[in-house]
Amino acid sequence: MGAVKMIYQRVALEELPLDEQKRAVQDIYAYAPRLKLYAVLVPKGEVWSAEKEQVLLRNADSSPYIGLQEAPKSSSVADSVLSNDPGLLQLKPIDPSERLGFKETQELHDLFKLIKGDGISGSQATEQILKISDGVLGIVAPDVGDLKRKLLNNIQNLAMLDDSSALLSLAILFATCNGFSSKSTLRDLSLAIMLMDLPMMDLSNEERQQYFLERPNWSEPLKAKVYKHPLDAYDMVFAKAMSVPDLVLTLVRNHHELFNGKGFPKGVRSETLPNLVKILSLAVETFEMLRCFEIQGESRTLMEVLMMIRDEKVEPHLRRHSRKVCDDVIKGIRAQ
Ligand SMILES: [Fe+2]
Repeated sequence: MGAVKMIYQRVALEELPLDEQKRAVQDIYAYAPRLKLYAVLVPKGEVWSAEKEQVLLRNADSSPYIGLQEAPKSSSVADSVLSNDPGLLQLKPIDPSERLGFKETQELHDLFKLIKGDGISGSQATEQILKISDGVLGIVAPDVGDLKRKLLNNIQNLAMLDDSSALLSLAILFATCNGFSSKSTLRDLSLAIMLMDLPMMDLSNEERQQYFLERPNWSEPLKAKVYKHPLDAYDMVFAKAMSVPDLVLTLVRNHHELFNGKGFPKGVRSETLPNLVKILSLAVETFEMLRCFEIQGESRTLMEVLMMIRDEKVEPHLRRHSRKVCDDVIKGIRAQ
């Protein structure tokens, strides 16, 4: 038995949410090559063997995603697996350092330290951030294949993704569903996501935990840091004279602003801001809710979270997010 086996966790299929179950039996193999992680369905009672591992290796998708094989054309494979009462070996990293995008986040940390310590010029900082941004973009949305499906797969395996990669997957998916799919839009989103939370990079693990789990009842020091970070990031870009497009700056500054004007740092109604800002703000909130559920060990699908955010009963002017942006995302995912 190879080392690959060690990173699997066995979970019962019936413990997965219903739509995960369906996906799990359609996508027989999953492979994340950079992490050397695999997921495979194994009928309950069967023993993992070197032969099975070889079959898995031969059949694994070699594209650089947490991408899965295309679903079988007929459902017979899935049916036969189901009728065998299967267990599922699920992708689950044992350590955050195994998350996709971890290396790029480390590079962001290093860059942030250099910027804070004045150890880098503006043009060097721009060059580095663009390189990291393109790296993450290449991970979550490579220029091949069915982008929407790859992004949905990424999001279904959120625990496998580092924060920037997870958020970028959501932002690009949401932008695509809202009709933005040009290469330059994706690059602007990626660059904004790399820059906007740089000032949050020195949060301690406890603060990070508090950020996700106790929102918005943070301690005063954390609240001060959180409420200021979009402006700090914006100022950092100016102070360093980094050269980034105006739209990126608008995204950085407003990524926590809401439709009802109850966001931060300025509390402006996002209605008055470019559409891409509304899309990013929705992606930010969706990501934070999904991560929060994940940290608490609860499983919620993207659609469940979007439905919570959409909240039918809320008066239009009190909604946190644009109904149209949200509905176009839901429509786009359903059409997939
Ligand atoms: Fe942020």
